[in-house]
Amino acid sequence: MTDVQQTLVLIKPDAVSRGLVGAVLSRYETKGLAIEQLQLRRIDAAFADRHYAEHVDQPWYPGLRDFITSGPLVAVVLSGERAIEAVRVLNGATDGVKASPGSIRGDFASSNQRNIVHASDTVESAEREIGLWFPEGVSE
Ligand code: CDP
Ligand code: MG
Repeated sequence: MTDVQQTLVLIKPDAVSRGLVGAVLSRYETKGLAIEQLQLRRIDAAFADRHYAEHVDQPWYPGLRDFITSGPLVAVVLSGERAIEAVRVLNGATDGVKASPGSIRGDFASSNQRNIVHASDTVESAEREIGLWFPEGVSE
């Protein structure tokens, strides 16, 4: 049985400024995931607070907010077989130092904050995040 899902990915400002957008997108495309939406944009602090609502009370959140608003990022909706888990596995562990070699973070990051990518972690968060970033909707 197939289980095709959509998930939201952010290619974070560190990746954009380092010229890694193409390299990161290539990982998802070669895995077989399809790009449904893609937008380069810069967000403000209020939008960051909405995206990271679950983390706003963390002691490290102000640093994350400064980072995620520091420059343009690329928001992407990907679709494919069990896309939410597939993308989380491709991304690797949150801390780039601990992330496995071969994963995006393992290959491109050495920070627990400036870690190249974000991805939705559940069906519910994917629906919420896709609705936040692409309120005009995503075609099937
Ligand atoms: O992104 P992921 O779901 O793997 O990790 P998270 O625990 O949901 O944290 C969200 C983001 O906050 C991470 O991707 C990091 O960019 C940042 N973070 C941080 O700045 N400092 C931490 N101690 C933990 C996470
Ligand atoms: Mg998370």
